[in-house]
Amino acid sequence: TTYKVGYFIGSLASGSINRKLSKALIKVAPAELEFTEIPIKDLPLYNPDFDEDYPPTGVALKEALAGVHAVLFITPEYNRSIPGALKNAIDWASRPWGKNSFDHMPAAVIGASPGAIGTALAQQSLRGVLSFCNARQMTTPEAYIQLKPGLITDDGDITNPETEKFLTDFMQEFRDHTCRVLTVLPRTSA
Ligand code: FNR
Repeated sequence: TTYKVGYFIGSLASGSINRKLSKALIKVAPAELEFTEIPIKDLPLYNPDFDEDYPPTGVALKEALAGVHAVLFITPEYNRSIPGALKNAIDWASRPWGKNSFDHMPAAVIGASPGAIGTALAQQSLRGVLSFCNARQMTTPEAYIQLKPGLITDDGDITNPETEKFLTDFMQEFRDHTCRVLTVLPRTSA
């Protein structure tokens, strides 16, 4: 079975190390996973006034999420939490009330930082948000990536064999997790 995965990159930076990590993850992922980026940078700040009539960027986000089986979050840590741009996108996706795009959706979180904590606190914060959004999160393995220069090339090749194996296993587990969740009861909107 093939699964469509929508991935969110929590950083808007042109030289984002998390974007680099996303390239590496896609390269080592099992063939059954197909990836589409879910863009977040052009979303206005969410406001409930939009619930009656979502703007095109909001509609595009909802449609993109309706078209995937699972979501993968690849995010930096900002001030020990997730970047505002990512939280904004999640808020858009969770609304209007009763039309939460993440309901029962398989999800995984991962992130990279130059620092040793490797986005652990951002991921903890993100998991709380995704729990409330009723996403079906992969809880193990966790992946806190300290990304130092040279670990991943610009093309997304991983230069350290141990890291390559770790990320390969992570993506296989995500495939298995998605399969388990959707085999028990498929999501109707995906
Ligand atoms: C950071 N950075 C950071 N790093 C970290 O490990 N914990 C943190 O709490 C923060 N806080 C933080 C806040 C803000 C506003 C910025 C801009 C940066 C550093 C961060 O990990 C680093 O800039 C990464 O390169 C960000 O990821 P991307 O954008 O390269 O993917």
